[in-house]
Amino acid sequence: MFTRAIVRKPCEAIVNGLTTANLGAPDYALACEQHQDYVTALQECGLQVTELPALKDYPDSCFVEDVALLTQHCAILTHPGALSRKGEVAYITAALNAFYSSTQAISDKGHAEAGDIMMVGSHFYIGLSERTNLIGANEIIRILSKHGLSGSTVKMKELLHLKTGVSYLENNNLLAYGEIMSHPDFAEYRRIEVHEDEQYAANSLWINGTILLPKGFPNTLKAVQQLGYETREVAMSEFQKIDGGLSCLSLRF
Ligand code: GLY
Repeated sequence: MFTRAIVRKPCEAIVNGLTTANLGAPDYALACEQHQDYVTALQECGLQVTELPALKDYPDSCFVEDVALLTQHCAILTHPGALSRKGEVAYITAALNAFYSSTQAISDKGHAEAGDIMMVGSHFYIGLSERTNLIGANEIIRILSKHGLSGSTVKMKELLHLKTGVSYLENNNLLAYGEIMSHPDFAEYRRIEVHEDEQYAANSLWINGTILLPKGFPNTLKAVQQLGYETREVAMSEFQKIDGGLSCLSLRF
Protein backbone atom coordinates (compact mmCIF):
# COMPACT_ATOMS: atom_id res chain seq x y z
CA MET A 1 0.00 0.00 0.00
CA PHE A 2 1.12 3.55 -0.64
CA THR A 3 0.41 6.41 1.74
CA ARG A 4 2.10 9.34 0.03
CA ALA A 5 2.97 10.78 -3.35
CA ILE A 6 5.16 13.62 -4.55
CA VAL A 7 4.25 15.53 -7.70
CA ARG A 8 5.60 18.64 -9.39
CA LYS A 9 3.38 21.19 -11.10
CA PRO A 10 3.90 21.60 -14.86
CA CYS A 11 5.81 24.71 -15.95
CA GLU A 12 5.08 26.99 -18.90
CA ALA A 13 8.10 25.52 -20.71
CA ILE A 14 6.19 22.22 -20.95
CA VAL A 15 5.50 23.23 -24.55
CA ASN A 16 9.18 22.42 -25.19
CA GLY A 17 9.14 19.00 -23.53
CA LEU A 18 11.05 16.15 -25.13
CA THR A 19 8.84 14.19 -27.46
CA THR A 20 8.64 11.53 -30.11
CA ALA A 21 4.83 11.56 -30.16
CA ASN A 22 4.15 13.87 -33.09
CA LEU A 23 0.91 15.10 -31.48
CA GLY A 24 1.75 18.80 -31.31
CA ALA A 25 2.77 20.93 -28.32
CA PRO A 26 0.88 20.70 -25.02
CA ASP A 27 -1.47 23.47 -23.93
CA TYR A 28 -0.04 24.75 -20.64
CA ALA A 29 -3.38 25.74 -19.06
CA LEU A 30 -4.98 22.42 -19.94
CA ALA A 31 -1.92 20.55 -18.68
CA CYS A 32 -2.32 22.32 -15.31
CA GLU A 33 -6.01 21.38 -15.20
CA GLN A 34 -5.25 17.75 -16.01
CA HIS A 35 -2.46 17.73 -13.44
CA GLN A 36 -4.84 18.98 -10.76
CA ASP A 37 -7.28 16.19 -11.57
CA TYR A 38 -4.40 13.69 -11.37
CA VAL A 39 -3.63 14.96 -7.85
CA THR A 40 -7.32 14.59 -6.97
CA ALA A 41 -7.29 11.00 -8.24
CA LEU A 42 -4.28 10.17 -6.05
CA GLN A 43 -6.06 11.72 -3.07
CA GLU A 44 -9.21 9.71 -3.82
CA CYS A 45 -7.00 6.62 -3.55
CA GLY A 46 -5.99 7.69 -0.04
CA LEU A 47 -2.62 9.30 -0.73
CA GLN A 48 -1.29 12.39 0.98
CA VAL A 49 0.14 14.38 -1.91
CA THR A 50 3.08 16.78 -1.68
CA GLU A 51 2.92 19.25 -4.57
CA LEU A 52 6.28 20.75 -5.49
CA PRO A 53 6.42 24.07 -7.35
CA ALA A 54 6.99 24.26 -11.10
CA LEU A 55 10.59 24.48 -12.32
CA LYS A 56 10.55 27.02 -15.10
CA ASP A 57 13.84 25.93 -16.69
CA TYR A 58 12.96 22.25 -16.96
CA PRO A 59 10.22 21.50 -19.51
CA ASP A 60 9.86 17.84 -18.45
CA SER A 61 10.14 18.37 -14.69
CA CYS A 62 6.52 17.46 -13.94
CA PHE A 63 7.58 13.88 -14.78
CA VAL A 64 9.02 13.58 -11.33
CA GLU A 65 9.11 9.77 -11.36
CA ASP A 66 12.23 9.72 -13.52
CA VAL A 67 14.58 11.44 -11.09
CA ALA A 68 14.26 9.18 -8.06
CA LEU A 69 13.37 5.64 -7.07
CA LEU A 70 11.48 5.45 -3.80
CA THR A 71 11.04 2.22 -1.86
CA GLN A 72 9.90 1.30 1.66
CA HIS A 73 13.54 1.09 2.68
CA CYS A 74 15.51 3.62 0.66
CA ALA A 75 15.39 6.58 -1.70
CA ILE A 76 17.73 6.55 -4.68
CA LEU A 77 18.46 9.60 -6.81
CA THR A 78 18.90 8.74 -10.47
CA HIS A 79 21.04 10.28 -13.20
CA PRO A 80 18.79 10.93 -16.20
CA GLY A 81 19.94 9.91 -19.64
CA ALA A 82 18.29 12.95 -21.21
CA LEU A 83 20.72 15.87 -21.04
CA SER A 84 17.99 18.48 -20.53
CA ARG A 85 16.71 16.59 -17.48
CA LYS A 86 19.91 16.03 -15.48
CA GLY A 87 19.45 19.25 -13.46
CA GLU A 88 16.06 18.13 -12.14
CA VAL A 89 17.66 15.71 -9.67
CA ALA A 90 19.04 18.44 -7.40
CA TYR A 91 15.54 19.83 -6.95
CA ILE A 92 14.01 16.59 -5.73
CA THR A 93 16.59 16.01 -3.00
CA ALA A 94 15.17 18.50 -0.50
CA ALA A 95 11.68 17.11 -0.93
CA LEU A 96 12.91 13.58 -0.21
CA ASN A 97 14.78 14.68 2.92
CA ALA A 98 11.41 15.37 4.53
CA PHE A 99 10.50 11.67 4.28
CA TYR A 100 13.77 9.69 4.24
CA SER A 101 16.60 9.93 6.77
CA SER A 102 19.07 9.64 3.91
CA THR A 103 19.10 9.40 0.15
CA GLN A 104 21.63 7.63 -2.01
CA ALA A 105 22.61 8.63 -5.50
CA ILE A 106 24.03 6.76 -8.44
CA SER A 107 27.23 8.18 -9.88
CA ASP A 108 27.46 10.11 -13.13
CA LYS A 109 29.36 7.21 -14.75
CA GLY A 110 26.10 5.69 -15.91
CA HIS A 111 22.57 6.91 -16.32
CA ALA A 112 19.11 5.82 -15.30
CA GLU A 113 15.57 7.17 -15.20
CA ALA A 114 13.02 5.54 -12.93
CA GLY A 115 10.43 5.45 -15.71
CA ASP A 116 12.49 2.41 -16.65
CA ILE A 117 11.99 0.78 -13.26
CA MET A 118 8.98 -1.34 -12.37
CA MET A 119 8.44 -2.53 -8.80
CA VAL A 120 7.00 -5.99 -8.20
CA GLY A 121 7.02 -6.53 -4.44
CA SER A 122 10.65 -6.37 -3.33
CA HIS A 123 11.98 -6.86 -6.87
CA PHE A 124 12.70 -4.09 -9.35
CA TYR A 125 12.81 -4.67 -13.12
CA ILE A 126 15.08 -2.13 -14.80
CA GLY A 127 14.66 -1.61 -18.54
CA LEU A 128 17.78 -0.82 -20.55
CA SER A 129 16.87 2.03 -22.88
CA GLU A 130 18.29 5.20 -24.36
CA ARG A 131 17.72 6.73 -20.91
CA THR A 132 19.01 3.91 -18.70
CA ASN A 133 22.21 2.00 -19.33
CA LEU A 134 23.80 -1.04 -17.75
CA ILE A 135 26.17 0.95 -15.54
CA GLY A 136 23.32 3.00 -14.09
CA ALA A 137 21.08 -0.03 -13.68
CA ASN A 138 23.78 -2.03 -11.91
CA GLU A 139 24.46 0.84 -9.52
CA ILE A 140 20.79 0.91 -8.61
CA ILE A 141 20.72 -2.85 -8.13
CA ARG A 142 23.76 -2.58 -5.85
CA ILE A 143 22.03 0.02 -3.66
CA LEU A 144 18.77 -1.97 -3.60
CA SER A 145 20.60 -5.11 -2.49
CA LYS A 146 22.06 -3.26 0.51
CA HIS A 147 18.48 -2.75 1.67
CA GLY A 148 17.32 -6.35 1.20
CA LEU A 149 15.73 -5.63 -2.19
CA SER A 150 16.58 -7.11 -5.58
CA GLY A 151 16.75 -5.91 -9.17
CA SER A 152 17.30 -7.26 -12.64
CA THR A 153 17.88 -5.66 -16.01
CA VAL A 154 15.47 -6.05 -18.92
CA LYS A 155 16.69 -5.84 -22.51
CA MET A 156 14.34 -3.80 -24.72
CA LYS A 157 14.28 -2.91 -28.39
CA GLU A 158 11.39 -0.51 -28.89
CA LEU A 159 10.22 1.26 -25.75
CA LEU A 160 11.18 4.77 -24.58
CA HIS A 161 10.91 3.66 -20.96
CA LEU A 162 10.11 0.19 -19.64
CA LYS A 163 6.85 1.46 -18.15
CA THR A 164 5.83 2.94 -21.49
CA GLY A 165 4.95 -0.65 -22.34
CA VAL A 166 4.11 -2.36 -19.07
CA SER A 167 2.41 -1.74 -15.73
CA TYR A 168 2.24 -4.11 -12.79
CA LEU A 169 -1.32 -4.24 -11.45
CA GLU A 170 -0.45 -6.48 -8.48
CA ASN A 171 -1.99 -10.00 -8.15
CA ASN A 172 0.43 -11.29 -10.83
CA ASN A 173 -1.27 -9.13 -13.50
CA LEU A 174 0.74 -7.16 -16.04
CA LEU A 175 -0.83 -4.72 -18.44
CA ALA A 176 1.48 -5.02 -21.41
CA TYR A 177 2.08 -3.86 -24.92
CA GLY A 178 4.31 -4.84 -27.84
CA GLU A 179 7.62 -6.48 -27.07
CA ILE A 180 6.64 -7.05 -23.42
CA MET A 181 3.92 -9.51 -24.48
CA SER A 182 6.49 -12.06 -25.58
CA HIS A 183 9.38 -10.98 -23.38
CA PRO A 184 10.89 -13.99 -21.54
CA ASP A 185 11.56 -11.94 -18.39
CA PHE A 186 7.81 -11.64 -17.79
CA ALA A 187 6.74 -15.18 -18.68
CA GLU A 188 5.60 -15.91 -15.11
CA TYR A 189 2.94 -13.17 -15.14
CA ARG A 190 -0.57 -13.06 -16.54
CA ARG A 191 -0.16 -10.54 -19.36
CA ILE A 192 -3.19 -8.49 -20.35
CA GLU A 193 -2.54 -7.20 -23.84
CA VAL A 194 -3.04 -3.55 -24.70
CA HIS A 195 -3.90 -3.27 -28.38
CA GLU A 196 -1.74 -1.21 -30.69
CA ASP A 197 -4.30 1.57 -31.09
CA GLU A 198 -4.46 1.98 -27.29
CA GLN A 199 -0.77 1.54 -26.54
CA TYR A 200 -0.56 4.72 -24.44
CA ALA A 201 -2.82 3.01 -21.86
CA ALA A 202 -0.14 0.41 -21.14
CA ASN A 203 1.15 2.99 -18.68
CA SER A 204 -1.55 2.73 -16.02
CA LEU A 205 -1.17 2.88 -12.29
CA TRP A 206 -2.12 0.62 -9.38
CA ILE A 207 -2.82 2.71 -6.31
CA ASN A 208 -4.07 0.81 -3.28
CA GLY A 209 -6.34 -1.46 -5.31
CA THR A 210 -7.64 1.12 -7.77
CA ILE A 211 -6.23 1.33 -11.29
CA LEU A 212 -5.78 4.81 -12.72
CA LEU A 213 -6.00 4.73 -16.51
CA PRO A 214 -5.61 7.48 -19.09
CA LYS A 215 -8.99 8.65 -20.34
CA GLY A 216 -10.09 7.59 -23.81
CA PHE A 217 -8.92 3.98 -24.07
CA PRO A 218 -12.17 2.02 -23.72
CA ASN A 219 -10.89 -1.45 -24.57
CA THR A 220 -8.11 -1.30 -22.00
CA LEU A 221 -10.50 0.14 -19.42
CA LYS A 222 -12.91 -2.73 -20.01
CA ALA A 223 -10.15 -5.35 -19.83
CA VAL A 224 -8.97 -3.98 -16.48
CA GLN A 225 -12.51 -3.77 -15.11
CA GLN A 226 -13.12 -7.38 -16.16
CA LEU A 227 -10.25 -8.38 -13.87
CA GLY A 228 -12.31 -6.98 -11.00
CA TYR A 229 -10.43 -3.76 -10.32
CA GLU A 230 -11.95 -0.41 -9.39
CA THR A 231 -10.86 2.09 -12.02
CA ARG A 232 -10.45 5.88 -12.28
CA GLU A 233 -9.79 7.61 -15.60
CA VAL A 234 -7.59 10.70 -15.79
CA ALA A 235 -7.41 12.94 -18.87
CA MET A 236 -3.79 12.94 -19.98
CA SER A 237 -3.84 14.37 -23.52
CA GLU A 238 -1.35 17.17 -22.81
CA PHE A 239 1.20 14.85 -21.19
CA GLN A 240 0.80 12.24 -23.93
CA LYS A 241 1.97 14.90 -26.38
CA ILE A 242 5.38 14.84 -24.70
CA ASP A 243 5.65 11.11 -24.04
CA GLY A 244 4.59 11.30 -20.40
CA GLY A 245 2.29 8.74 -18.80
CA LEU A 246 0.40 8.38 -15.53
CA SER A 247 3.28 6.83 -13.65
CA CYS A 248 5.68 9.56 -14.78
CA LEU A 249 3.69 12.25 -12.95
CA SER A 250 4.35 11.06 -9.39
CA LEU A 251 6.62 9.35 -6.93
CA ARG A 252 4.58 7.01 -4.79
CA PHE A 253 5.70 5.52 -1.49
N1 GLY B 1 9.07 14.11 -22.24
C1 GLY B 1 9.38 13.20 -21.24
C2 GLY B 1 10.72 12.64 -21.43
O1 GLY B 1 11.10 12.43 -22.57
O2 GLY B 1 11.47 12.42 -20.51
